[in-house]
Amino acid sequence: MSNSDISVALLVGGSSPERNVSKASGKSVLAALSFLGYKVKVIDPAYGLNQPKDVEKFFVEKDFTELSNRNYVEVINSTMFDDVDVAFIALHGKWGEDGTLQSLLELRGIKYTGSKVLASATAMDKCMTKVMFQHYDVASPRWFVINRNEEDVELIKSKIKKFFGYPCVFKPNDSGSTIGLTICRGDVEVGHAIKTAFKYSNKILVEEYIPGREMTVAVLDKHALPPLEIKPKGGFYDYESKYTSGMSEYIVPAQIPPKVAEHLQHQALLAYNSVGCESYGRIDFRLTTEYKSYCLEVNTLPGMTSTSLVPKMAKAAGISFEELIDRIIKNSL
Ligand SMILES: Nc1ncnc2c1ncn2[C@@H]1O[C@H](COP(=O)(O)OP(=O)(O)O)[C@@H](O)[C@H]1O
Ligand SMILES: [Mg+2]
Repeated sequence: MSNSDISVALLVGGSSPERNVSKASGKSVLAALSFLGYKVKVIDPAYGLNQPKDVEKFFVEKDFTELSNRNYVEVINSTMFDDVDVAFIALHGKWGEDGTLQSLLELRGIKYTGSKVLASATAMDKCMTKVMFQHYDVASPRWFVINRNEEDVELIKSKIKKFFGYPCVFKPNDSGSTIGLTICRGDVEVGHAIKTAFKYSNKILVEEYIPGREMTVAVLDKHALPPLEIKPKGGFYDYESKYTSGMSEYIVPAQIPPKVAEHLQHQALLAYNSVGCESYGRIDFRLTTEYKSYCLEVNTLPGMTSTSLVPKMAKAAGISFEELIDRIIKNSL
C-alpha cells in the first residue's frame, strides 16, 4: 500500500490547557504528512461536528470560543472517521493524551498513533506512574501524595520534613508543560503551592527536589534515542522556557560519558516499559553531578513540532522529521 492510499485523521487542538502546544505540533505533523503523500484530514475534536473550514487560518488564529471535551464523542462517532485508516494524535494533556480519546478510537475500531488506553492513562497520572516505577526499579525522586479535601497544611509540612525536606516540588497529578508546578523553598510557600496545583488537579504529587541537570530520552520502536540535555536560560524549565524560542539551549547528544548515556537509555526503556508504552514516547530525567539519574515522568504524546525534543533526538540518530512521522504511522498500522 502506498502512502497516497492511506487516509490519516490528524487530531489536533483539543480542550486541554495545552491546546496551543497541540496546534503547533499539528502544524508540523501536517506538513510532514503532506510531504510524505498521505491523505490527511485535520480534525479538532473540541469543535464537534462544525469543524474549522479554513485549515491554515485554524493553525494561526487564537480561538475564544468555549471548547468542550463532550464534542469528542460526537466527532469520533461521526462519518468523518468512516474512511480513516489511522488517527495521528497530535493532542497533548487531558482528554487527548490520557487514554480517554484512545478508548473512543478503540470502541470505533480505528487505529491510532502512540500508546494504548492503559499506558496513556497511567503515564498521565504521575502518582500511578511512580507506583509502576517503584515496582520496576526505575530510580525516581522520593514522594507523597495529597488528595483534595485532605489538605492539612501542618501535616503536609511535617511530612516534607520527615521524608525529604526543602526544596521540594509540588505538581498537579495529571497536568503537563510545568503548568501548576511550584518549587517550594520553605514552610511559608506551602499554602500557595497547594492552591496553585489544585487549580489543575484533584491530586498533588509532592517530590524531593533533585539538583542537577535536565535530561530527556526519546523511545521509538522499542529503541532509546541519544539523550538530550536541556539548559533553560532562566534556570528552571517552566512553560515559558519550554515554548519560547531562545529561552532554552538543547544539547544532543548530551555531553555525558558514554556509560552515563547508556544508563539513561536503559532507565528510559525501563520506565517506558513499566508503564506499557507503545510506538513512541519521551522520558524526562534529572541527573545529579554524581551522575545519578532520577526519572520524573513518561510523556506518551510529547511535543511534535519539527524543533521539539523528540525530533531533535531522532535527528541525532540520523532520522529526519518526515521519517520519524512516517515510522510512527507505520508502527501504528
Ligand atoms: N523532583 C524534581 N526535582 C527537580 N526539578 C523538578 C522535579 N520535578 C520537576 N522538576 C522540574 O519541573 C519540570 C516539569 O516537571 P515534570 O515532572 O517533567 O512535569 P511536566 O513536564 O509534565 O509538567 C521538570 O522538567 C524539571 O525542570
Ligand atoms: Mg516533563
